[in-house]
Amino acid sequence: MKNVKDFIKAKKENKKITMISTYDYWSALICEEAGIDCILVGDSLGMVIQGQDTTLPVSLDDMIYHSKAVRRGAKNTFIVVDMPFLSYQINEEDALKNAGRIMKETGVNAVKLEGGEEILKTVEKLINAGIPVMGHLGLTPQSVHALGGYKVQGKSRDEQERIKKNAKLLQEAGVFSIVLEAVPQNLAKEITDMLDIPVIGIGAGKETDGQVLVFHDLLGFFDKSPKFVKRYLEGKKLFKDALIQFSKEVKEGIFPDEEHTYL
Ligand code: KIV
Repeated sequence: MKNVKDFIKAKKENKKITMISTYDYWSALICEEAGIDCILVGDSLGMVIQGQDTTLPVSLDDMIYHSKAVRRGAKNTFIVVDMPFLSYQINEEDALKNAGRIMKETGVNAVKLEGGEEILKTVEKLINAGIPVMGHLGLTPQSVHALGGYKVQGKSRDEQERIKKNAKLLQEAGVFSIVLEAVPQNLAKEITDMLDIPVIGIGAGKETDGQVLVFHDLLGFFDKSPKFVKRYLEGKKLFKDALIQFSKEVKEGIFPDEEHTYL
C-alpha cells in the first residue's frame, strides 16, 4: 500500500489486505521485508510492551516514540497510528493538534480512532486537515470498562444495527478503512458487503477485506492466545531456549569459543 487510494483499489480488485500491529524498529523491518501491506502502531503496546492491563494509560508521547522507531524500520510501508485514549475525545481542536503532532513528528501515513457517531465531527475535522483516518468498531479496547470486558460485540440485534449504522456514518465521514474487532462472522460479512471502503478484521472471521493481528500474538510470544489468534510460531519457547543455551554455555566456559573471539 502506497496511499489511501490503494486500500479502496484492493477492495475493488478483491485483494485481501494484511496489517500487523507492532511497535519498534526491528519488527517493522521484518514486516516490511515480509511484504505486509500495512503496519499499525497500535495502542495495544500498553499491554504488549508496557505490561499494563489495558490501553488506557498509553500517552501520546508513547505513541510518537514508537511510531518514529517503526517508521525507521519500515521506510516504504503504509503506517497507521492509534490515537491513544483521551487524545481525541475531549474536543475536536485537541484532536487535530494531537493528530497533527503524530503526523508531523513521525512521518506516518494515517491515524486510527475508536468509535462511531460520537467521533464523527472529529473524524471530519482531521480529514479536512488532510489527515487520513482509519475507523475502529466492534470491540473498542479504549472503552473496555464501559463494555464490561474484552467481549465479543454485536451479538444482539440492537448492537448489530448500531455497529452497521456507525460503519456507514464513518464511511460517509471519509475514513479510508475500518478495523472491525471481535464480532460474529455474519455481521462482519454484512458490513464488508455494505461498504465501499475495506474492512480489516480481527476476530471477525474470514469474510472481511483484510486481517490484522498483533506481531507478538501471531509469533507466539505469550503463553495464552485468544481464540482468533493463529500462532504461526512458538516464539517465546524459541527465544527462551536460546537464552537458556547462552546461559549454560557461559557458565560452562563454552562461549565465547575461538570462532567468536578476536585473537
Ligand atoms: O491496538 C491495536 O493493536 C489494535 C489492533 C489489535 C486492531 O487496535
